[in-house]
Amino acid sequence: MIISKSNKNLDKNSPIALFDSGVGGLTVLKQLKEVLPNETYIYYGDTLHMPYGDKSEEQLLQYSSKIFEYFEKRNCKAVVMACNTTSSVVYEQVKDMYNFKLFSIVQAVSEVLASLDIKKLGVFATKATVESGAYNRKIAEYNPNIEVFGQFCPKWVHFVEENSMNEPKNKKEILADLEKMLENNPDKILLGCTHYPFLLDILSSGVQKDLFIDPSLYFAQYIKRYLHSKDLLATHVEEDEFYVSENPEQFVVSAQMFYKLAYLPKVLTF
Ligand code: DGL
Repeated sequence: MIISKSNKNLDKNSPIALFDSGVGGLTVLKQLKEVLPNETYIYYGDTLHMPYGDKSEEQLLQYSSKIFEYFEKRNCKAVVMACNTTSSVVYEQVKDMYNFKLFSIVQAVSEVLASLDIKKLGVFATKATVESGAYNRKIAEYNPNIEVFGQFCPKWVHFVEENSMNEPKNKKEILADLEKMLENNPDKILLGCTHYPFLLDILSSGVQKDLFIDPSLYFAQYIKRYLHSKDLLATHVEEDEFYVSENPEQFVVSAQMFYKLAYLPKVLTF
């Protein structure tokens, strides 16, 4: 039985936590810091279990539960699933189980996506996200007239985490995946994995950049609106904290395109 916890007594000056399998969620953190600069953030990159995209529901539940327990201990007011995979596979089961407000990127951005004047939306995402059909279902709730089709690219997350996307053979593979997507003539292509905005320069080398949608800004704006509506915007800010479950040195190198870290994240495992 799931016991639903109340998040009525949240402290506005408690931190906002984000997590992902690695550096991908930094694309969301960057936007959050733009729209909500006066908040304190805790970021957790579960590099030990990366990639999440080929993990089972049971594994994803297990990893995220441990991370959520830690965030609960840290008294976070909100937890941002800066990861499409866990948002697609885990969110519905856990959304009322913790003492913080839980935000899912899929659930938060689908309404905006459904309002776009398009007929066909291609979604680049992980295997788990595509197979869950979460974007198809959620967008159809708001607008059943948009055809949503997914394509997974299992190597892309590795390219980003290894910072190897510019190696000629990897670039070639990314562009071949794009060619395959373009055969379906999408009006827009959603970067439905938070790692993929790291590849935007490569992806847009042959096609117009505005073909792609990075949903992180919509997500950050949604979170801001929610916190404002609940009178939960912070009145003072403290130092952000970064954690990974392994390999902090590589995290700093791969992160730099979106987030320049001046120090190594701490290693934290559960
Ligand atoms: N960046 C995450 C997502 O948005 C996870 C990618 C992965 O680890 O496979 O889905």
